[in-house]
Amino acid sequence: MTRPFPMPHAPCPMSNDTTAAHIAIVGATSGMAEHCARIWASRENARLTLIGRRPEALARIADDLRVRNPAATVAVIEQRDARDPADIERVVTQAHALAPVDIALVAHGLLPEQAAIQDDLQRCAEALAINGDSPVLYAAAFARHMIARGAGTVAVIGSVAGDRGRKGNTIYGAAKAMVDVYMQGLQHRLAIEKSAVRAILIKPGPTDTPMTAHLRARGARLAPVEQVAAGIVRAIDRGQPVAYLPARWRLIMGVIRHLPRWVFNRVDI
Ligand SMILES: NC(=O)c1ccc[n+]([C@@H]2O[C@H](COP(=O)([O-])OP(=O)(O)OC[C@H]3O[C@@H](n4cnc5c(N)ncnc54)[C@H](OP(=O)(O)O)[C@@H]3O)[C@@H](O)[C@H]2O)c1
Repeated sequence: MTRPFPMPHAPCPMSNDTTAAHIAIVGATSGMAEHCARIWASRENARLTLIGRRPEALARIADDLRVRNPAATVAVIEQRDARDPADIERVVTQAHALAPVDIALVAHGLLPEQAAIQDDLQRCAEALAINGDSPVLYAAAFARHMIARGAGTVAVIGSVAGDRGRKGNTIYGAAKAMVDVYMQGLQHRLAIEKSAVRAILIKPGPTDTPMTAHLRARGARLAPVEQVAAGIVRAIDRGQPVAYLPARWRLIMGVIRHLPRWVFNRVDI
């Protein structure tokens, strides 16, 4: 389902201002993405396309953004299957057909309990596909359009979990590491080809969203989602290639990455 600008129940005409950035958000119902969308929607000439699998939830977020800024232009595209390359191609093509995408934020993901999935290959495959294959394919599809146009920013939310394999998130971490290496490769290509397109990898630490509700219930320390969302938008504005959020995670993961294996394998984290 594509809802082109304007939505029938919202008086928001298509902006004629071609300087307005068109921002497409995949996984727009995610806690982090929704808070990024609120920041972007507050900007002048805001133009957002929300992509996700639940049309009612997308419509609710779109309505909320329009209430926050009645001048914002918000469209919705429904995913059929985030794991299907053909569907990814369709969704990205539809987003560009609405208006060339200036910024793409790829935000979907799922965090299953490692112990619950590690002996179930179907659930492992699902977690690898949604956290790894799918974001990489979305980034590749957006990047292709942007490289052809010579402009744009593709940002993907990875995780600090991709920095070092850990027993508590072996599958999730492996998928996030795949995203990390893909984004490194894309950045390398864009640099060698002297492209104006930017590729940005966001690496949040534990953040207070629906994904971590079970961690919050156990008393885990989580960063406020508003803080992390503001960091995502800032990193995209600056064209920062890698953003650890909150920033202290760069140092923490630097230490964890460099722990010798014989030390790391004695620490139950
Ligand atoms: N929260 C953290 O502590 C944390 C830390 C590091 C990295 N991250 C990453 O940050 C990103 C945003 O996470 P969040 O914390 O904002 O999570 P969230 O609020 O739980 O949102 C997860 C998003 O992924 C979508 N999704 C889940 N399974 C899907 C599937 N099978 N097909 C299509 N979409 C699916 C959800 O769609 P529905 O709404 O339709 O379910 C939702 O949009 C993710 O990539 C996550 O891995 C999160």
